[in-house]
Amino acid sequence: MNMETILEAVNVSFEYADGAKALQGINMKIEKGKKIAVLGPNGAGKTTLFLHFNGILKPKSGKIMYKGKEILYNRKELIKLRKNVGIVFQNPDVQLFSATVYQEISFGPMNLGYEEKIVRAKVDEIMGKLNISHLKDKPVHFLSYGQKKIVSIADILVMDPEVIILDEPTAYLDVEHTEELIKLLDDLKEEGKTIVVSTHDVDFAFLWADYIYVMKDGKIIKEGTPYEIFTGDSKGERLKKPLILEIYEILKDKNIIHKEEIPRKVEELKKAIRGN
Ligand SMILES: Nc1ncnc2c1ncn2[C@@H]1O[C@H](COP(=O)(O)OP(=O)(O)OP(=O)(O)O)[C@@H](O)[C@H]1O
Ligand SMILES: [Mg+2]
Repeated sequence: MNMETILEAVNVSFEYADGAKALQGINMKIEKGKKIAVLGPNGAGKTTLFLHFNGILKPKSGKIMYKGKEILYNRKELIKLRKNVGIVFQNPDVQLFSATVYQEISFGPMNLGYEEKIVRAKVDEIMGKLNISHLKDKPVHFLSYGQKKIVSIADILVMDPEVIILDEPTAYLDVEHTEELIKLLDDLKEEGKTIVVSTHDVDFAFLWADYIYVMKDGKIIKEGTPYEIFTGDSKGERLKKPLILEIYEILKDKNIIHKEEIPRKVEELKKAIRGN
């Protein structure tokens, strides 16, 4: 398989104005077409790193590369970069600014100069996929927090960026919307999109990601496949185990499961218990 790095942080360090060392020598290679999860406790630096990926923040030292080229911080280049790398912010109140849901989601494509008919079709499609069509005419400031979060996701997806970065996308979503989002992200991956998600949720990271980075105190303390991160003699930091893995290991220990293949989804665990 030919690996192509689409987005890369090279030895990136960043300090906020008050001297907080938010990033300290971050190296991260994001392969095209992969689903990447960035795990880490509050204050680890996940949001700060994401804001570097589309040029909102500039490294104090080190560099950010997009498709093998160092990103440039002039207006023209940043507009181009942001068309390709879309970020859904952690806090939707920072992102949303239009009156109604429809106006909000259509703003980006309108701004790109698409015909109104095409914009309407695009917005309707994404609202359908995210199950928010009924909120079309609702004022954004009356939405619940989770609804705002979904609209902010629609805002970015409607622009069809090549890399989609989502900062804590599931934090405020109910089970149903979380499942819809996971399905949508899987479809986008099938289309060849690259998806980067930050999360505190080890269960989500384990079942969803192709590759996981673990951050703490502005550094990457661990990286690998979900199996490498959560099984075996994990070097360094100990992480909370995903529930499915925990159950699998107990049942395997008690000889209830014989299968060596580790399940990542509930369905796979059930199959392993039934012995098929
Ligand atoms: N605007 C700011 N000014 C000063 N310090 C900041 C600012 N934003 C973040 N920080 C500090 O930078 C560090 C990294 O914060 P960041 O928001 O990137 O963490 P995070 O991993 O996204 O956390 P969370 O899981 O809570 O979203 C923290 O110590 C935080 O206090
Ligand atoms: Mg954050």
